[in-house]
Amino acid sequence: MADDQLDENTERPATSRRAVLGWGGAGLALGAATAGGAAAAVASGGDSGTAPVADSGAAVAFHGAHQAGIATAVQDRLHFAAFDVTTEDRAELIAVLKKWTRAAERMTAGRSVGEGAVSELAEAPPDDTGEALGLKPSRLTLTIGFGPGLFEKGRFGLEDRRPEALIDLPAFPGDNLDKNRSGGDICVQACADDPQVAVHAIRNLARIAFGKMAVRWSQLGFGKTSSTTPDAQTPRNMMGFKDGTRNIAGTDKKALTKHVWVSGKDGPGWMAGGSYLVARRIRMHIETWDRTSLKEQEDIIGRDKGEGAPFGKSKERDEPNLKAMLPDAHVRLAHPDSNSGAQMLRRGYSFTDGTDGLGRLDAGLFFLAYQRDVRDGFVPVQQSLARKDTLNEYIQHVGSAIFAVPPGVRDTRDWWGRELFS
Ligand code: HEM
Repeated sequence: MADDQLDENTERPATSRRAVLGWGGAGLALGAATAGGAAAAVASGGDSGTAPVADSGAAVAFHGAHQAGIATAVQDRLHFAAFDVTTEDRAELIAVLKKWTRAAERMTAGRSVGEGAVSELAEAPPDDTGEALGLKPSRLTLTIGFGPGLFEKGRFGLEDRRPEALIDLPAFPGDNLDKNRSGGDICVQACADDPQVAVHAIRNLARIAFGKMAVRWSQLGFGKTSSTTPDAQTPRNMMGFKDGTRNIAGTDKKALTKHVWVSGKDGPGWMAGGSYLVARRIRMHIETWDRTSLKEQEDIIGRDKGEGAPFGKSKERDEPNLKAMLPDAHVRLAHPDSNSGAQMLRRGYSFTDGTDGLGRLDAGLFFLAYQRDVRDGFVPVQQSLARKDTLNEYIQHVGSAIFAVPPGVRDTRDWWGRELFS
């Protein structure tokens, strides 16, 4: 079967090296695949799948002005990985980024890496690990970010290219950060409607980078806790509350321009069209929360649990009246009016990583927020929450990272980080 031929039950092709070569060379077959099959599978609704209702098996376009996975309608599952760059050689790092980009193009279109998982070269390990064979693209998005460590003096010659906005996050009251779950030189956020597709993507990127980068920490997530599509049903977090009601919508171009995308004027040039990502692993003391009365839970959040309506209002989408909430309610403290207009696009996921050895669930919120500048976004909001939020009795921030997320990959010649390294 040729590389661009699809199995009748799936959009993910089975690949045979001999068949590909038989079609007149791998390059030719690959070109045809990119132009035909992949394009046909791309989700409707713009360059990064922002359409509110998307076919959960479809593909999201990889190329565009912005990276997909930010404004894109939130997928059901997450595999997030932070990498340490272990090579000291700039050329080797660039080579990995180029290979990653080509692999990401293929995987987001529902294709196997390289020559696939079942090439006829039985003597060599296959290019692709194979667990996504037969699975649909599942709206997989792969979003890369560069952490502060990459810009350190004496590493890759990038010390003059570090954006001012890529700050080292300050310590916040109550933080109990585990360094093994924090930081990282490079991150990749893989989101998909099928967890196996997301895990396959991270696994194959890690494999490509073997010997040059190593996974520092990673996080699986489920049950998206923030919707970026206002008309969809708002998901609930592990505390049982609707989460993401008042979020920046992926279709709200005005708000995205104002609060999420870095503009050419913000500097540096290589970040124009990009964004800054803050990731926080927030552990929830679920058992304590579950013993708290409904009234207290609602007082803490500032919304009712059933409908999700703000206090004093009856519908979820009603405009919050902050004064109707307790002064230290979460929503009151996090609202833009309490933070000089600060806003971010939240895109977090729930996690449950087994138990902690004391019979308690190791569960919580893997908080992901994209913004134009963390100094006007996450930092002031978290400073206020960390000091006053009554929710703090039930949560603890245990992991933290910040990344500069570059703009989108323009076409098949472009690669992740090209403008940073040029
Ligand atoms: C485990 C920790 C957290 C939980 C359980 C939680 C839960 C919630 C819930 C239930 C809402 C109301 C629904 C909504 O409008 O989305 C909300 C709103 C919000 N949260 Fe959180 N949140 C957590 C952490 C954070 C953090 C760390 C930040 C930022 C630093 C944050 C920022 C916001 C913002 C900006 C809103 C919207 C406020 C508005 O405009 O009305 N949250 N959160």
